[in-house]
Amino acid sequence: MQSLRDAISANGGTGKALWHFNFSELAAVKAAARLARESGRAIILGVSEGERDYVGVRVASALVASYRREGVPLYLNADHTKSFEKVRQAIEAGFDAVIFDGSALPFEENIAETKRVVEYARMANSAVVIEGEVGYIGVSSKVLDAVPEGIEKTTVEQAVRFVRETGVDMFAPAVGNIHGMLKGGHEPELDIALIRKIKDAVRIPLVLHGASGNTDADLRAAVGAGISLIHVNTELRVAWRKALNAAFAAHPDETTPYKLLIDAEDAVYAVMRAKAAL
Ligand code: G3H
Ligand code: ZN
Repeated sequence: MQSLRDAISANGGTGKALWHFNFSELAAVKAAARLARESGRAIILGVSEGERDYVGVRVASALVASYRREGVPLYLNADHTKSFEKVRQAIEAGFDAVIFDGSALPFEENIAETKRVVEYARMANSAVVIEGEVGYIGVSSKVLDAVPEGIEKTTVEQAVRFVRETGVDMFAPAVGNIHGMLKGGHEPELDIALIRKIKDAVRIPLVLHGASGNTDADLRAAVGAGISLIHVNTELRVAWRKALNAAFAAHPDETTPYKLLIDAEDAVYAVMRAKAAL
């Protein structure tokens, strides 16, 4: 099976994005595997530091590897990794990609730390894909009452310098996207013109984080402007929770986990499939 790096290049001319879905339990993994198997398209599963602490770094890696051995094009990303040590753990465990997220650091420090991560990754495993991030889009994949304070878009100048000096494979800009999803809907619009300018300037695959709550039209426009990979988490979590609430209410005496979890898997799968159809 091709590496994630090759899957990203192969997807380049298709006019479609690759999709990244987070997980912290089996229903989402099974849903993503179902989608990858049925569509034949690469799907990236991600675990943030919190999700990784819960699932286990090696367990996550073994799980995805076991699907790959069966011919299912699933890949694994160490999402929003904030320390060098956790980057090292993920690469050692065999993750296909790592996001070093130094976006909370002062810009110069973010460049220096990301560069260090890229140098280490090249030495440890040349296949692993490294993503860097600049700007602020909030931190939580949850339902929000308001847009997080302090949102800061990435400038074209920052993007150019960051990509040139760090040598990252993929770049995650802040372009009006936010982590999480607003309670009343009305997610801020994506800055499509900024995506296009950054893409023209850096010419490497761009990643859109925080895609929960954005309209289909906005996401399609983002792909048209140069986004290669889209991250979704909160919408999956909401679908999971709603389906479990309904399953518990419908079967108050059921205690067999998989008989309840199958509804969550189906609900999460429906969200994933709708996104991948965009
Ligand atoms: O890295 C994870 C994603 O950016 C998820 O964002 O929860 O807004 O979908 P989201
Ligand atoms: Zn993210």
